[in-house]
Amino acid sequence: MTTCMNERLLRVWDLPTRVFHWLLAFCVVSSLISGQVGGDAMEWHFRLGYCIIALLLFRVVWGFVGGHWSRFKQFFYSPLTIIRYLRGQGKPEHEVGHNPLGSLSVWGLLFILIAQVSTGLMSDDDIASQGPLVKFVSAVTSGLATSYHKHWGKWIIILLVCLHVAAILFYLFKKNQNLITPMLKGDKPIDAGASHALPSSKDQLAQRIAALVIFAVIALGVAYAVQHFG
Ligand code: HEM
Repeated sequence: MTTCMNERLLRVWDLPTRVFHWLLAFCVVSSLISGQVGGDAMEWHFRLGYCIIALLLFRVVWGFVGGHWSRFKQFFYSPLTIIRYLRGQGKPEHEVGHNPLGSLSVWGLLFILIAQVSTGLMSDDDIASQGPLVKFVSAVTSGLATSYHKHWGKWIIILLVCLHVAAILFYLFKKNQNLITPMLKGDKPIDAGASHALPSSKDQLAQRIAALVIFAVIALGVAYAVQHFG
């Protein structure tokens, strides 16, 4: 990414957030495809679902202890702030992490993915595929969960992902703001004057090892739960 004379690079997305993002994108697209293919591919649909659960749990923890701009409080905006932003009355720091409008897409994606994996755990196709929690819920609950997971949930995710990518491309081509490179490399060019007042996300070896340990504990917990309840 090239910077102007009066711009400075600021670490916005730490490595754990970036790895989380691209793994999540890969797993979500692959699970949509494997669910659509069905049959033997359902084995992979389940595995990818468990990976998504581990990734989402990691992101919840990282939202409290992760790099400055990855923390939930940095993109938890009031409706008034969102309206002001849409009227062009945003603050400089809004352009650093998730801006007030973009935060809606992030919250929407995270919530709808949590709903999708939760209902997947209770889904039953009455043929060969059964989520591990089916035996713990009533037939009515499982029926509702299955219906949501296979129809509404799937289409809402496809819609939100399309909107998400469309918004990123809109910023790239219409507003001349490249949000993709920071999600790949971590840094965003910020006005040198303003950047001194803006903290960067800590992204040293210590934070990266901490993220790896957190993710490993979560992944082992998910694997253990799948082995014992699945
Ligand atoms: C299934 C596909 C995808 C899903 C589920 C997804 C999900 C997400 C989520 C949850 C975030 C918030 C990151 C965080 O704070 O943890 C995010 C941010 C972001 N995503 Fe995606 N994403 C997908 C595909 C893509 C693709 C294909 C691109 C590139 C064209 C992309 C570019 C970005 C960028 C640039 C951001 C940061 C936006 C900002 O600066 O506010 N995403 N995505």
